[in-house]
Amino acid sequence: MCGIVGYIGKKNATPILMDGLKRLEYRGYDSAGVAILSNGSVKVAKEPGKLSKLESTLADQPLAGNVGIAHTRWATHGLPNKVNAHPHTDNSGRLALIHNGIIENYQAIRARLSESGYVFSTDTDTEALVNLISEFYQNEHSLDEAVRSALSQVEGTFGIIVISRDDPDTLVAARRGSPLVVGVGQDEFVIASDVSAIISHTKNVTYLDDNEVAVVHRSGMAIKTIDNLQVNKKVEKISFDLDKIEKSGYDHFMLKEIMEQPQTIEDAMRGRLIAEEGTVHLGGIRHEIDSLLYAPRILFSACGTSWHAALIGEYMLEELVRTSVEVEYASEFRYRDPVLDRGSVMFVISQSGETADTLAAMREAKRKGSKVLGICNVVGSTIARDSDAGIYLHAGPEIGVASTKAFTSQVTVLSLLSLLLARMRTMGASRGAEIIREMQSLPEKVRQILQGHAEIKKIAEEYCESQNFLYLGRGYNFPVALEGALKLKEISYIHAEGYPAAEMKHGPIALIDENMPVVCIATKDSIYEKVTSNIEEVRARRGRIIAIATEGDEEIKQRADHVIYVPRTLEFLTPILTIIPLQLLAYDIAVLRGCDVDQPRNLAKSVTVE
Ligand code: G6P
Repeated sequence: MCGIVGYIGKKNATPILMDGLKRLEYRGYDSAGVAILSNGSVKVAKEPGKLSKLESTLADQPLAGNVGIAHTRWATHGLPNKVNAHPHTDNSGRLALIHNGIIENYQAIRARLSESGYVFSTDTDTEALVNLISEFYQNEHSLDEAVRSALSQVEGTFGIIVISRDDPDTLVAARRGSPLVVGVGQDEFVIASDVSAIISHTKNVTYLDDNEVAVVHRSGMAIKTIDNLQVNKKVEKISFDLDKIEKSGYDHFMLKEIMEQPQTIEDAMRGRLIAEEGTVHLGGIRHEIDSLLYAPRILFSACGTSWHAALIGEYMLEELVRTSVEVEYASEFRYRDPVLDRGSVMFVISQSGETADTLAAMREAKRKGSKVLGICNVVGSTIARDSDAGIYLHAGPEIGVASTKAFTSQVTVLSLLSLLLARMRTMGASRGAEIIREMQSLPEKVRQILQGHAEIKKIAEEYCESQNFLYLGRGYNFPVALEGALKLKEISYIHAEGYPAAEMKHGPIALIDENMPVVCIATKDSIYEKVTSNIEEVRARRGRIIAIATEGDEEIKQRADHVIYVPRTLEFLTPILTIIPLQLLAYDIAVLRGCDVDQPRNLAKSVTVE
């Protein structure tokens, strides 16, 4: 979702800002713009569509200066056109502002400002904010006071950076609900909505917290709260290198990330397995184990792919730990009046750690007195900092909008959590050790599946023109069916539905004919026979069957048009293997259809608005 970059220093700001925007492209956007302080005025260039369009505008009319801000917009208020693109300027043309988030009371602000003679030329909430700052700026001494005064009247969420032609040695940045990081360089600062836009300049960063305002000059920075209290923050070091956010020879980030999974699954387990005791060490939640063991109920709250991982976690904890678990869409949880029994513990699961609905669910659970633990990937993200404790995925940056490696890491972490708790309840050491041996073999098994990519590509060629797909699975592989269908629709725009295989009879069966490819996950597990009966039901209606089956299952070839084999593993670990061919199938189909795999239309990597 919207990307923000700001620069102040001695270099030409435009190439630095454009490079930053490119690094943020993966978040999803539909227009882009840049504002530079140049010869005593604010110069703005903006374009709808891809960054390349803005680049050619800037090539024709270069903007030069060493203070500037830039933005990729994912439309919330108003069409994704040039007028609504950021940066927005105030009526006087002194100020320019970029904004991520939503100003909920913008209509009221706009109406009041209109009465004072302000005019508005865009449909955005942001234009109301820049003029509100402008109104205070006329009467106050400094830019940062004007920003703080304006923000104290704002309802909603924001990550903003403001520049002023009358204050050419200052960037003012502020956040509430939308992430902002300040990169601290040598006589220069780069501010951005995530570290990928900063890392090529400096690895030293300061994360802003909600209601903080950073006033940044070339020579240094001061952080205050909106209420004007001084805040002392530490400078932290980013732990990953630039190559982690580059394609490294792959055509797409998504493919790179699919292929990285043997490594990322191993990284999720690294240092956590205690083989000799058949158990697991999860340092981040070591002080929360009692709360988890004695919780009457564990809740998982998440969105999108992370919600699918949560469903698998539910099955695991119920089977291995015998704890009652509930999985909630974060967006629903926050607006219901959920019953949280005393002692309930909530896990929020999120790759980015910034999804607005998941953050709101976290806060709602905290408000109601629950302990909230995070499972997230992005180090230093809001969930990582605001949850009571948590477990990192250690999957490295995920750039492709469609989540792949984060999913398998989430499921791996959930299996570690289940094993840890199970060993503290009823599971013996030898069973624990057996599970650990199997978990250690998973990276190699994933590698083996990835080696079959060429076969999956052939299947993709046969079905890439299909209009619809159905994905069926049962038990642990029902959430995998949901996730497989989500991958396909996200990046290929083919309509796809995931269903519990038996539930198919209650509706989707009406859709099945010779034009309907049906992906059936039918691994040799406790419900294999049931799934094969469901496959027969599809076959009887001439549906085309693509089966994901366990190596050595020759019988399934009689029933399916295509079989993709995965190695045998323990039933609760099968999702880590069965999802891999489905990720590849979605990827290949999307590439064959000429889709923009890494930045699918309308989607955002990090959904920071509700
Ligand atoms: C967006 C992304 C998905 C992701 C979901 C939840 O929709 O496109 O890939 O699964 O948000 O994101 P999170 O960062 O909270 O896991």
